[in-house]
Amino acid sequence: MTQYIASIDQGTTSTRCMIFDHGGRVVGAAQKEHEQIFPKPGWVEHDPEELWSNTREMIAAVLAETGLTAEDIAAAGITNQRETTVVWDRKTGKPVYNAIVWQDTRTDRLCTELGGEQGSGRFREATGLPLSTYFSGPKARWILDNVDGARERAEAGELCFGTIDSWILWNLTGGLHLTDVTNASRTLLMNIETLDWDHEICGAMGIPTSMLPEIRSSSEIYGDLAVSGISPSIPVAGILGDQQAATFGQACLSEGEAKNTYGTGNFLLLNTGTTPVRSENGLLTTVCYKLGDNPAVYALEGSVAVTGALVQWLRDNLGIIQSAKDIEPLAKTVDDNGGAYIVPAFSGLFAPRWRPDARGVIAGLTRFVNKGHLARAALEATAYQTREVIEAMRADSGVELSSLKVDGGMVVNETLMQFQSDILDVPVTRPVVNETTALGAAYAAGLAVGFWKSEDDIRRNWAEDKTWQPRMDEPERERLYAGWNRAVERTYGWTD
Ligand code: G3P
Repeated sequence: MTQYIASIDQGTTSTRCMIFDHGGRVVGAAQKEHEQIFPKPGWVEHDPEELWSNTREMIAAVLAETGLTAEDIAAAGITNQRETTVVWDRKTGKPVYNAIVWQDTRTDRLCTELGGEQGSGRFREATGLPLSTYFSGPKARWILDNVDGARERAEAGELCFGTIDSWILWNLTGGLHLTDVTNASRTLLMNIETLDWDHEICGAMGIPTSMLPEIRSSSEIYGDLAVSGISPSIPVAGILGDQQAATFGQACLSEGEAKNTYGTGNFLLLNTGTTPVRSENGLLTTVCYKLGDNPAVYALEGSVAVTGALVQWLRDNLGIIQSAKDIEPLAKTVDDNGGAYIVPAFSGLFAPRWRPDARGVIAGLTRFVNKGHLARAALEATAYQTREVIEAMRADSGVELSSLKVDGGMVVNETLMQFQSDILDVPVTRPVVNETTALGAAYAAGLAVGFWKSEDDIRRNWAEDKTWQPRMDEPERERLYAGWNRAVERTYGWTD
């Protein structure tokens, strides 16, 4: 019997391939960063060919590292940075432009125009999403409007649109053009009730439907991996956007269960069961997962654009730390933020405020503030933004959070986790397997081929590593949060 499941995680900063056993334990992992391309302020691109070649390389690397062969792998899953948009030639497979990344704000004006006199309500009504630069539809429209000949070629059926799952699957399988329903729910083109492309919205967005992939479930056999050197072929059987994958990997499989992932940005998803819940408070209605022919399960999502990326910025742009892990010791050189706040509105502000006109600020500076305070303020910014999202979620769902499951790169940071618990006044729990994103896609693939029998197998595999209890008193918590809110108000109105 084959004993393992492989998972490809093509994320915003790196690509990894991981192998899991039946207990959901990590057996092997290979990871490689890719270039972040910033052609202009507010623009963020990736080279799609680099994403694909890193994927191929990481599959080979993890097999070499573990000494396993394709025969040992029962199925492979794909998970990915969501919304990031690629348009490529159907015949040659060559992209017509770089991938436009979810953080990119070049479509700001376009989104205002698309809202037009009718406003943006019809987009939210149909798709569950605000009309924002964050999502794929406006990015694809930008490519069709700005790359020479692209619109004519798209209208002639010569071009394919895809989020990163589609791009990777196309290459892995030698030309299948599919996506899963969770990724499709991030395009601003899919109807959130029918789970099909919304022709009226696609028309309004100026996207020919012939270039769109077919929408499938998150867990079924899509095709076989056709990568040279890997034989026999492995079925590709799971696709989930990375935040939905983390929700699945955290076993948030019942209505009312939530997780928060601390990556480049922060993404909090609350499972709302089989009915889409409309947000009145700046959250997104999104598909959480759909297993084969079962009904889709929905989520409410609070997406925060910049959390871990602020730590990278302190490292790469200011040079106050050498590597991301240095942030915690530096933050620990001081007792508190020294009155300083950093609001990292690099891509405007996402949930729950949706302010494309916002840009980052550092507020509360005095001569007293040193780099330790700035490191502390950067960590605190992550926790305050999470509190904003949780308050919106409480207002939308009426559910009081009793604890928060966390995962992602930043949860190794104990100072942040303690502060997160303090500022929320709820316990924060980290699981043993923190690689929940890759694990979630592995589960989706493994369920499709019978490697795992049911969702109960997934629940059984989840185990707690550590819980942080709140220990800050109420007046201090509210004093700090009031300071954060004052700082956020300073970010508005910075774009033309
Ligand atoms: O919506 C964007 C999100 O999918 C990116 O996640 O972990 O690649 O920063 P990550």
